[in-house]
Amino acid sequence: MTMDADFKRYKELVDEHLLDFMPDIDAKTITLYDAMKYSLTAGGKRIRPALLLGACEFCGGDVSAALPYACALEYIHTYSLIHDDLPCMDDDELRRGMPTNHMVYGAGIATLAGDGLLSAAFESMNMDMLMYLDNKDELTKRVKASYEISKGAGVRGMVAGQVSDLEAEGHSITLEMLDYINLNKTGAMIKAAVKAGADLGGGDAKITSDLNDYAENLGLAFQVRDDILDITGNVKDLGKNTGMDAEMDKSNYPAIFGLDKSYEKMEKHLDLAYASIASYYDNAEFFYHLLDMLELREREKVRH
Ligand code: IPE
Ligand code: IPE
Ligand code: MG
Ligand code: MG
Ligand code: MG
Repeated sequence: MTMDADFKRYKELVDEHLLDFMPDIDAKTITLYDAMKYSLTAGGKRIRPALLLGACEFCGGDVSAALPYACALEYIHTYSLIHDDLPCMDDDELRRGMPTNHMVYGAGIATLAGDGLLSAAFESMNMDMLMYLDNKDELTKRVKASYEISKGAGVRGMVAGQVSDLEAEGHSITLEMLDYINLNKTGAMIKAAVKAGADLGGGDAKITSDLNDYAENLGLAFQVRDDILDITGNVKDLGKNTGMDAEMDKSNYPAIFGLDKSYEKMEKHLDLAYASIASYYDNAEFFYHLLDMLELREREKVRH
């Protein structure tokens, strides 16, 4: 994946400040802090926080002021990966090129490290909001952003999708159900990223709605791409083991419709994502580049 300049700038900002919003932890529970930090600093593309910062800047906001929210989003995403990898969920041993959290710290600490990261996200956002109690406009932006992130992470978003993903294992499910799973387990946090960014940047209803359409299609494409790569990708590039979805009998797009249809589905949603922001021309360059980054170019070789 080649990185565009804005994406690189956002990723570097997030990497530099990712631990700044972590709560101080009592020395007695240093293992918990280590476990949280282990997964946070193991790598990661930082797509969700970059999207938040990109949306914020696109709407005229200041990216450094948005960092407590961008980092909160990455805390939540990282927690979701730690839990997703647990033996009671996808039972994975490799993540971000490193042994999964539970392989290093055990399932108990890994579960609690996930809980700790989820709570740290809300602490980060609330701490920031406390500084704006006397400024209603600025406070409102932040409350809205925090609401989008809470909603996206929760039982009407990512958690709901993860539940349906688990329940669909070993079953044949409808296309509607597949989209529901992908829109929630993956799309909800991507949508939260752009909506929170738009809130923080003071975006109007039209921009927010266009970014929402972009994120919904990006979310669908992103998960189908992830499912394709579980079949066609390699461990070195992905930093996670391949072939795991078949092993767990996951009901994902390639499992049900095959690889060809999956590529078509991914490309359709990348195109729709592009179309939803095309009216902004060069101003939306960061968002187009992100789609280019995600396009599986090796597919071209397959096609011709
Ligand atoms: C992995 O997300 C989980 C999915 C939604 C497929 P990413 O592919 O963004 O993982 P990191 O953050 O770069 O490790
Ligand atoms: C995970 O989907 C989505 C999450 C909310 C964590 P997957 O289970 O396919 O993600 P990977 O392949 O383990 O990263
Ligand atoms: Mg999973
Ligand atoms: Mg998984
Ligand atoms: Mg996967």
